[in-house]
Amino acid sequence: MIKKVFHRNGLRENGVITVEGTDFFYKSLPLVFFQKELNGYKILSKYYPVPNLIRIEKGDNTGLLVFEYENSVDTKKGLLINLFTNKKVKTEDFNPLLELYKKVFLKTLKKDKGKASDIFFKDRISTRLEKFYSPKFIKSINDKEVFLNGNKLKLQLEKTISTIKSFFKKDGLHWCVISQGDPNDLNLGLKPVLFDYEAAGWNPLMAEFANLFVYNLIQGSYLGPVYSKASYKRHKEIYKYLDKVRLSKNKLEHKTLSLRRKFVFMYIKKVLMPCFHKIENYNGWYEEFKNYFAMKILCRFDISKMPKKDMILSLCFLEYFYNTINPKSFNEFLSLTKKIWLVQR
Ligand SMILES: Nc1ncnc2c1ncn2[C@@H]1O[C@H](COP(=O)(O)OP(=O)(O)OP(=O)(O)O)[C@@H](O)[C@H]1O
Ligand SMILES: [Mg+2]
Repeated sequence: MIKKVFHRNGLRENGVITVEGTDFFYKSLPLVFFQKELNGYKILSKYYPVPNLIRIEKGDNTGLLVFEYENSVDTKKGLLINLFTNKKVKTEDFNPLLELYKKVFLKTLKKDKGKASDIFFKDRISTRLEKFYSPKFIKSINDKEVFLNGNKLKLQLEKTISTIKSFFKKDGLHWCVISQGDPNDLNLGLKPVLFDYEAAGWNPLMAEFANLFVYNLIQGSYLGPVYSKASYKRHKEIYKYLDKVRLSKNKLEHKTLSLRRKFVFMYIKKVLMPCFHKIENYNGWYEEFKNYFAMKILCRFDISKMPKKDMILSLCFLEYFYNTINPKSFNEFLSLTKKIWLVQR
């Protein structure tokens, strides 16, 4: 047996093991996360293409999952990230994934508590939001005036944090779907095939969307590769395509690869709009979206520890989507988004 570690972080480890010439993907996790991954896999595999799970082992502190190796994927091809590091990509290349989402979302759409991805949202109020942002930090930036891509913004983090906390105290029902719960471009195979099941299951449609939105807005081609380097070790091409960010006095400019914005807009039109059509009156959608969005901005990384440029960038997007705009429809959301999310190439 040959073992190659892709990523090790404390008790977490993943990689490939080769047994008699055949590759397998393994993932070893602390027991709580092992259980979440296993539950997520069981439910997701009923609706989406996933690699076969061929072995499960539970130890005292960790659990091990061994999957068939998905050969359509390697460092150069097969994952969504590879579309963002290739100049010859056509937007049709996104279609198999989008068609899959549309089919399953329309089939599973219902009101539910949607708790599968709480690990990124509700759970992080106490483990991250309250720990990362001290009253001193909040005070140091509150009421500061900054411009992002020409949009004047007044940072109101104090008010934002208290509104986020009240939102996540409520335990209501949301429009939910069965989803993978962490749609970043290392977890989505183009075939299509989905990986990484820790947050998979019943999730609020707006949590799933906020995740995908933040990822393409600033995390996938900027904050992720810069602040979570180990996850990109096998995808170094991304460093040639990083977002352009410039801060001069209180004016910030940010530009993403245009394909990222196109992908998100296609997702809105092809996946979300048909779901909204089925729901008919979904009045609270933007309030839900902006709270999930805010948690992904504030609690994936501790932005108070980032260099000023990246901290201000994150806070500006937060201010714009949380306090500045309040679109009623997706068409309004698209035009307001275009005003602040600028693209290059
Ligand atoms: N069965 C598989 N076959 C081939 N590659 C896989 C398989 N499962 C996962 N991968 C690849 O390994 C990567 C890491 O796995 P996964 O997303 O499950 O772990 P993770 O907890 O997000 O860890 P990391 O921080 O290392 O990305 C995935 O993004 C995917 O590209
Ligand atoms: Mg992953």
